[in-house]
Amino acid sequence: MVITSSCEIQAEINSKYDRESELKAFDDSKTGVKGLVDSGIAKVPRIFIHEKHKLGGNSGSGDYKPTIPVIDFQDVEKDPIVRSNWRDSLYSVMAPRPPNLEELPAVCRDIMLEYTNSVMSLGTDLFELISEALGLNPNHLKDIGCAEGLYVMGHYYPACPEPELTMGTGIHTDSGFLTVLLQDHTGGLQVLHDDQWIDVTPIPGALIINLGDLLQLITNNKFISVYHRVLAKNVGPRISIASFFRTCIEPENSSRMYGPVKELLSKENPPIFREVNVVDYFHFKHKKGIEGTQALAHFKL
Ligand code: OGA
Ligand code: NI
Repeated sequence: MVITSSCEIQAEINSKYDRESELKAFDDSKTGVKGLVDSGIAKVPRIFIHEKHKLGGNSGSGDYKPTIPVIDFQDVEKDPIVRSNWRDSLYSVMAPRPPNLEELPAVCRDIMLEYTNSVMSLGTDLFELISEALGLNPNHLKDIGCAEGLYVMGHYYPACPEPELTMGTGIHTDSGFLTVLLQDHTGGLQVLHDDQWIDVTPIPGALIINLGDLLQLITNNKFISVYHRVLAKNVGPRISIASFFRTCIEPENSSRMYGPVKELLSKENPPIFREVNVVDYFHFKHKKGIEGTQALAHFKL
């Protein structure tokens, strides 16, 4: 079937087809989206066609073009975190598909280890600065474990034959405290701001910091978890590496409870959320497939 208009797309989505078994067949093939693209498909399979975006948001048309704030960390970080030679090696470690860590050549493992150690150290600095910005003791967020437990995920987005029908990554917020993202030069990442999708234009050597749901929860809505997405493109592949600060990675931390930081609360600013166990929060959000901060709303008092 040739899909030519959005009406037909919607009709195709609404028409009954056995989505479950098509998804399973895709999963069983174990080749991923890369395998489909490598096999030369010219059409996006219907399992990947996105419904009209539930969150709305315009595509940043007109004169309103806010830019993403850039912070120069040169004087803060003694060790430049993303040296250009690293960057290229990191991308090659991730491509074409993230292999098992044990199967990686030692040099790749070393690069990954060095990178994640630097991300951890950057994270510690960021949590200090965020604590200060909140008027807390600089060690506060570190002391409650926000900088512990890094989960690193490599993304590989092949060039897409029909980018307007699908998404690289759908609209979501990140669940943890914050995410350090390294993207290559391809572009496609957007954040939702004032109901506008704003391009996060790649800057060589720059890292992107996303605030996540748990930071919104502990700061009692002072810092808001950002909606973002990755557009599909007909150029590529695009490679990105997301490092999530989400404490529950360490099993001994998994029962820790997080709620709005007491020092930020007052009569005028009562707690909005109840305390949650991080593991319960992630399970709730991901098992139910709830996108974005709607999951947080479930934990409101
Ligand atoms: C994520 C994410 C964006 C990207 O992994 O949560 O938003 O650029 N990734 O790959
Ligand atoms: Ni994300």
